[in-house]
Amino acid sequence: MHLTQDLGNEWSQEGSGHLPDQLLSVDHLKTYFFTWAGVVTAVEDVSLYVNKGETLGLVGESGSGKTVTALSIMGIVPPPGKIVDGKITFLGEDLRAKPEKEMQGIRGNKIGYIFQDPSTSLDPVYTVGQQLAEVIMRHQALTKEGARERAVELLQLVGMPAPELQINQYPHQLSGGMKQRIAIARAICCNPTLLIADEPTTALDVTIQAQILEMLKDLIKRLGMSMILITHDMGIVAETCDRVTVLYAGQVFEAGTTDQVFWTPKHPYTEALLTSVPNPRLVQRRLDVIPGNIPDLIHPPTGCRFNPRCKYAQQVCIDKIPDFDLQEPGHRAACHFAKELNLKSPVREE
Ligand SMILES: Nc1ncnc2c1ncn2[C@@H]1O[C@H](COP(=O)(O)OP(=O)(O)O)[C@@H](O)[C@H]1O
Ligand code: SF4
Ligand SMILES: [Mg+2]
Repeated sequence: MHLTQDLGNEWSQEGSGHLPDQLLSVDHLKTYFFTWAGVVTAVEDVSLYVNKGETLGLVGESGSGKTVTALSIMGIVPPPGKIVDGKITFLGEDLRAKPEKEMQGIRGNKIGYIFQDPSTSLDPVYTVGQQLAEVIMRHQALTKEGARERAVELLQLVGMPAPELQINQYPHQLSGGMKQRIAIARAICCNPTLLIADEPTTALDVTIQAQILEMLKDLIKRLGMSMILITHDMGIVAETCDRVTVLYAGQVFEAGTTDQVFWTPKHPYTEALLTSVPNPRLVQRRLDVIPGNIPDLIHPPTGCRFNPRCKYAQQVCIDKIPDFDLQEPGHRAACHFAKELNLKSPVREE
């Protein structure tokens, strides 16, 4: 087992006194894809939690299982994928035990979702107003006129200029940044408690990225929502997140407050990610790519899944899966040498 404590109360070991504020907890989640080539262990024992009002960064290279984790929380893993184990608790309720009909009431209502590419989440044949009204009316008892008013209000919230005019536009008439603002408006239209934003700025130009992130940050604060911000960019985590969970090859390698993880990383993979920070405002250095590739998830490496790429690897790393151990209150890492290695932090060195 990846975590050492029993299901249900392991986060009480964190020592940061957050348990009463917990909104979502994912415990030992496993989601596999049953393909003709074999079983892809895309999410292999992922645990994380989100407290009320906070933003959790879910970070890792492409292919590390971020999206599949999010889709699992929403209960929309596409076939041949399937959640095979674990517990997902949201507002004290076991989501995996809920029938699909009840999950439909939670998706888009209590949990909002923003996809990476706004063009895939917006329907080209409907106007901005129609798309927003459709979601609003599905979840709220509003008239057509009421839904339209709410749509204008939402467009104002996400910083759309001239919302009364924009509401009649079709997605193709809008820029990428504007489309993403609409997608965000749609995701928050029912005042969700939790917003999951899956790489919301990756498909956008760099200048637009910063504006959208600022807007999201502001929105979360104003509406009192919690957010899981999925990204492969540690610079975005530094600027946006209260806490961070680092994923690699379907496993959680490190979790803690953003300060803990940036100042005193306890996992070699986090150290490597930190030195690959592409954000010049955070670290003035060029992008160092982590050597090697994410492993084949049908035949993953034994022991620690990072061992083929890790410069600190020893025999025990091939023989044994490291436990996800507490390093200090609120800070965990899954590395056999977490307590011994004095890992570099580019933030600390500046
Ligand atoms: N439909 C699918 N069929 C088979 N494997 C999949 C499918 N979707 C995702 N995967 C596997 O899950 C892994 C994690 O994917 P994903 O969660 O999308 O990564 P991330 O969002 O971190 O880039 C991928 O490397 C891929 O091998
Ligand atoms: S357990 Fe071993 S291979 Fe894995 S990160 Fe730690 S030192 Fe590297
Ligand atoms: Mg993804």
